[in-house]
Amino acid sequence: MSCTIGVPRPFADNETRAALTPQVVEQLIDAHGVEVTVASGLGAHAHYSDDAYASAGATIGDDDKAFAADLVLVLSPPPPERRRRIGSDQTILGLLQPLDSPEALGDIADQGATALPMELVPRISRAQSMDVLSAMSSLAGYRATLEAALRLPKFFPLMSTAAGTIRPASVLVVGAGVAGLQAIATAKRLGAKVRGYDIRDATREEIESLGASFVNLELDTSLSEGDDGYAKELEQAKQERQPELLRPHIAKSDVVITTALIPGRPAPLVINEAAVEDMAPGSVIVDLAAPNGGNCALTEPGTTITEHNVHIMGPTNLPATMPVHASDLFANTVRSLLDYLLDDEGGLALNFDDEVTDAMCAVHQGTIRNERVRTMLSDLPDA
Ligand code: NAI
Repeated sequence: MSCTIGVPRPFADNETRAALTPQVVEQLIDAHGVEVTVASGLGAHAHYSDDAYASAGATIGDDDKAFAADLVLVLSPPPPERRRRIGSDQTILGLLQPLDSPEALGDIADQGATALPMELVPRISRAQSMDVLSAMSSLAGYRATLEAALRLPKFFPLMSTAAGTIRPASVLVVGAGVAGLQAIATAKRLGAKVRGYDIRDATREEIESLGASFVNLELDTSLSEGDDGYAKELEQAKQERQPELLRPHIAKSDVVITTALIPGRPAPLVINEAAVEDMAPGSVIVDLAAPNGGNCALTEPGTTITEHNVHIMGPTNLPATMPVHASDLFANTVRSLLDYLLDDEGGLALNFDDEVTDAMCAVHQGTIRNERVRTMLSDLPDA
């Protein structure tokens, strides 16, 4: 039997994205015969009106109605009072921060319900169209460079004018995953002189293929990539050396964009306070790891501060600054996932023999299936 899908308005204050767009609503109804309810005002920031959703076939309701569906789509974990009202027959699909704040998954399990965090979609070729992290990281990397360019009291490109020649700005990007590579590409397009650094060996070629140069540090990071493609945390001594080794490279940069992350761990320290002091007045740091504590010792998540005459930006949701394309890409990944997870009748069919389903179903009918989430929850003080 086909399931009902509900999309409440986002829970977080700084959220502007919509988890479904009218186009994807129409595609899901056509392909799977599902019923979709969206909360009134869902697409206000992304410029999708209630009428557009209704024309696509959705029912317009309030948050309670949207939250009563079999399958509820979310952009962040529901707040605690919402979690306590989830029914055992419901499934929550979306960005659920499984390794950063597993409490929400614990509550969903306590309700006997099912949770499908999109963060856990494996990074394999077959699942690329379902990879919401890559989609959102691309937007964040692009925007980080633009924010830096606007804040920097200098041009990015080389400018030869009658009044003199301006040297290009120097941009350093630390962490060359999806966000970092997009930041590098954007800074190159704007004409800056760009360098990149990452602890995973494979990134050297990727950084250089974008026309940037790779920063060599005297730090052996040859074992820094795990089997899942993600970086592994450096040993303690290397963690301590890395910020010092990066210091001279940071000092000669007008802009440093940091994106270094290890899944489920606090963000590694990349820029210490001494490195900030070394930078020229007016320089800019954009710390994309701010939600995970930040790569810069001085970052304050969610705000911009100026310390030692350096602007340090700690944005926590840059994709939300571009709600139209962020919503389109988010909704497209949801569509790919649902094309995968829904059976011919439009019902949710979870086949745990399948690698993607197995990896992303962290909680199934009250049972926590993901080992890391289970361990993290049992380590919580009041668990
Ligand atoms: P992420 O957001 O988890 O981390 C960002 C970057 O920080 C990574 O490149 C990581 O190596 C780097 N990093 C961690 N600690 C660092 C340190 N101390 N100093 C400098 N850099 C540090 O990474 P993201 O963007 O989510 O990508 C992770 C992996 O997944 C990559 O190998 C990427 O190629 C792969 N991937 C595969 C896809 C696919 O096949 N479908 C799609 C997207 C990503």
